[in-house]
Amino acid sequence: MSKLKVKYACQDCGHESAKWLGRCPGCGAWNTLVEELAARKEPRGAFFTGGVAAKPMPITKVDTASFPRMATGLKEFDRVLGGGIVPGAMVLIGGDPGIGKSTLLLQAACSISGQYGQVLYVSGEESAAQTRMRAERVNRLHDNMLIMTETNLESIIQSAAHVKPSLLVIDSIQTMYSPEIPSAPGSVGQVRDCTAKLLRLAKERDIPIAIIGHVTKDGNIAGPRLLEHMVDVVLYFEGERNYAFRVLRAMKNRFGSTSESGIFAMEEEGLAEVKNPSGILLSERPEGAPGSVVLASMEGVRPLLIEIQALVSTTCFGMPRRTAVGFDYNRLILLLAVLEKRVGQMLANQDCYVNAVGGIKVSEPAADLPVALAIASSYRNMPLDAKTVVVGEVGLTGEVRMVSRIEERIGEAVNLGFRRFVIPSGNAAAFKGKRAGLEIIGVASVQEAMEAVFV
Ligand code: TYD
Ligand code: MG
Repeated sequence: MSKLKVKYACQDCGHESAKWLGRCPGCGAWNTLVEELAARKEPRGAFFTGGVAAKPMPITKVDTASFPRMATGLKEFDRVLGGGIVPGAMVLIGGDPGIGKSTLLLQAACSISGQYGQVLYVSGEESAAQTRMRAERVNRLHDNMLIMTETNLESIIQSAAHVKPSLLVIDSIQTMYSPEIPSAPGSVGQVRDCTAKLLRLAKERDIPIAIIGHVTKDGNIAGPRLLEHMVDVVLYFEGERNYAFRVLRAMKNRFGSTSESGIFAMEEEGLAEVKNPSGILLSERPEGAPGSVVLASMEGVRPLLIEIQALVSTTCFGMPRRTAVGFDYNRLILLLAVLEKRVGQMLANQDCYVNAVGGIKVSEPAADLPVALAIASSYRNMPLDAKTVVVGEVGLTGEVRMVSRIEERIGEAVNLGFRRFVIPSGNAAAFKGKRAGLEIIGVASVQEAMEAVFV
């Protein structure tokens, strides 16, 4: 593979082909093959040289104490990282433009430079003055915070080797280029080669590196998937740009759990922690309005109450319109079919709009039942009881399936004053929490749930 004169490579999986193909033979994706100008050199040498003995040894003798972590000054960020940044770790942060990736890393960089010594922040997107102005707003400036506006990776690596920073930030990998590769910055070959070089720097000199990566239209980090395999930690920063809420999720973490998530709000002075996200998300809820249902969702290992809204109205002409914001469109279509076929709601001539309020993305199956009930509530023009919380996954036969961590979900809702719970019957049977003063209704099907909430 190393001497192959590659002409085309897949942006998703890195599959190489001598001629252009509409569909990648490697991963089956369409239109992902892009031209590369020359054969690449495969990165030579070991990726992983971080003090690991080359000879076999019993696992019980392996020293685990050598994992000192650097706190980033943002508790939520530390939590997602598994307790802070590990020396020599490569962290990749992806997210939509304008979501706050640069702000997050700048805040962390300022804080780390104050505590642990020099930090090198390399920006290929903004000028040094712009970066300074932003840094002044988000944190106290320190002389240990070094800014460099450069896109040539060779000189970045030279500077980093000279400075030996406690953290190197690359904003963003798509603007960097390696002079050895003739293709343009952001191309598959460039991104891959630059990442490989940075990886070697991180592992050989024990410098932790945080890389910002842009995402493609469908939300993956642009460039080959290989990028995600090479780095130690992959984080996604998500949210709606018009709302203050931001969620940082770990997709891969070699030094911690991927079920942790961090919740931030974008404010005037940068990103801030959110103390009571559920309370804020529900603060503008129209109690007693048809089409509004409260879902007890899990954001990683953290419970989060989210309001689901649906609006159903008769289609004026042609095809009914269906839209979903913050919820999977195909899942919505499936739930409409279940409501039509299993519950007998005539929705074929109804437009249907579903929204997870607050710019939050709900990707859990536990949101199925709340969405179905919100649709039914709007269609029948009948509100649910305002102190009711709903969770449950819906199957194709209209059955309601169990969800994980029911105790945490109910606990969070009880803290916010909810007393009535419509949950899968399997979960109701297993629920061990305090029931005093709570009304817990176990339902086995969507039909049963409808009977429980619409009296
Ligand atoms: P930015 O970090 O530049 O996003 P990214 O690097 O992901 O493209 O953040 C951009 C947005 O954040 C910008 O629209 C302005 C907003 N913002 C604030 O609201 N408050 C702040 O203190 C900062 C620094 C940015
Ligand atoms: Mg940016």
